Amino acid sequence: MTTPPPLDPHPAALAGRFPTDFSWGFAASAYQIEGAVTEDGRGVSIWDTFARRPGAIADGSTGDIACDHYHRYADDVRLMAQLGARAYRFSVSWPRILPGGTGTPNQPGLDFYGRLVDALLEAGIRPMLNLFHWDLPQALQDRGGFADPQVVGWFSDYAAVLASSLGDRVKDWMTFNEPAVFAYLGHADGEHAPGVRDWPTAIRVADHALRAHAAAGTAIRARVDGARVGIAFDVNQVAPATGSELDRLGAEHWSAARDAWFLDPLFGRGYPALGLEVHRAAGHLDGVELDDPPAGQLDYLGLNYYRRDSVHALSDRPFDWRIGAVAGSEQTQMDWHVAPDGLRDTLVDLHRTYAPPELIVTENGAAYPDTIEADGRVRDTHRQHYLERHLEAVADALEAGVPVTGYHVWSLLDNYEWSLGYTRRFGLVHVDFDSQRRTPKDSARWYQRLIARE
Ligand code: GCO
Repeated sequence: MTTPPPLDPHPAALAGRFPTDFSWGFAASAYQIEGAVTEDGRGVSIWDTFARRPGAIADGSTGDIACDHYHRYADDVRLMAQLGARAYRFSVSWPRILPGGTGTPNQPGLDFYGRLVDALLEAGIRPMLNLFHWDLPQALQDRGGFADPQVVGWFSDYAAVLASSLGDRVKDWMTFNEPAVFAYLGHADGEHAPGVRDWPTAIRVADHALRAHAAAGTAIRARVDGARVGIAFDVNQVAPATGSELDRLGAEHWSAARDAWFLDPLFGRGYPALGLEVHRAAGHLDGVELDDPPAGQLDYLGLNYYRRDSVHALSDRPFDWRIGAVAGSEQTQMDWHVAPDGLRDTLVDLHRTYAPPELIVTENGAAYPDTIEADGRVRDTHRQHYLERHLEAVADALEAGVPVTGYHVWSLLDNYEWSLGYTRRFGLVHVDFDSQRRTPKDSARWYQRLIARE
């Protein structure tokens, strides 16, 4: 991998291109950073179970300790404040609040998030509370999980508990992080918890998640004055791998069966006809009764963007595709095709197609092999270069009239990268997982200077 040129402390390409009230921040999730999985009454989540499934996690690790954020949250908030963060999107561990998924709230769990919110507000950082980042209580999975329509009520009740407890201080709410990843990777591919491999189940999970999103929005708005409710959805740039007609159709069909499958209903359009055709042709709707889910009002759409996904058709059958980076493309340690222009194009497309009131880039970042050098620095030039180019893309989208109001780096800390365990580092801050020592990387200082100057 060639070393990109050293970067200016404040790249001229970005100078003055963002509004003064632009929401610079970070994003993270409970299971990936908190640890303390058996502390203060927390119940078991499906990720605690899945991470113990032999072969499920690349390095055989779990989130039992992770970044020990449960105990170190105050230091981590201070770190964000030092870097100039103005917003922080965190997720709540459902089993910390309702250990069995429903019933009586666990007060120590609520108290932790109250302390975290108070620390953020004290530091001048706007808390953005995400209800669900995949760590469903195992007790609810045992009752059918998101494949059971009861989950809509379970989720709405969970949202109501949090809204009642934190709604006096939290005004930015998010219902789901990446429902498509949870539904498809967790219930069709089986690569994520709960490790199910059944497409009709994945379709039911997606449908119930869309309904749960709408119900939770209603529960939050009924309890929180001035609440803004949104969702974070990952849309990577989808393109045909070659100029062949089969690849072109493959890209179109994958986009309809994945991105539009969720976004169309979220914006009140119901399931897309092409998506229904593709899923039906693949047998994914066998035995599934589908009505269009209610839209649920969105005050903002969160966009998680990382890469370009190129679709190569292995045959003319739907879903018989190889999806990933084209050979020879610039890639991160995730083998993801670095495509900053794709972020600009995706923001413009979402704006033109769905016209959300607001768009926030709720995740963008990169994994590269980081090392702490003898002088104590992590010279993560590749990550700085990745971020700079993607921020230029955001600035281009802003200039094209897209209402982008924020950008949250994934992530503050190196953390548990799901089925890849601790083998990938996304943080602007290096974490030594043995000592829990945090070391800001060069990219953290770069981001700090960028925020200070914008
Ligand atoms: C996702 C999740 C994050 C990941 C991050 C890096 O987008 O998959 O929101 O939890 O850790 O994106 O893969």
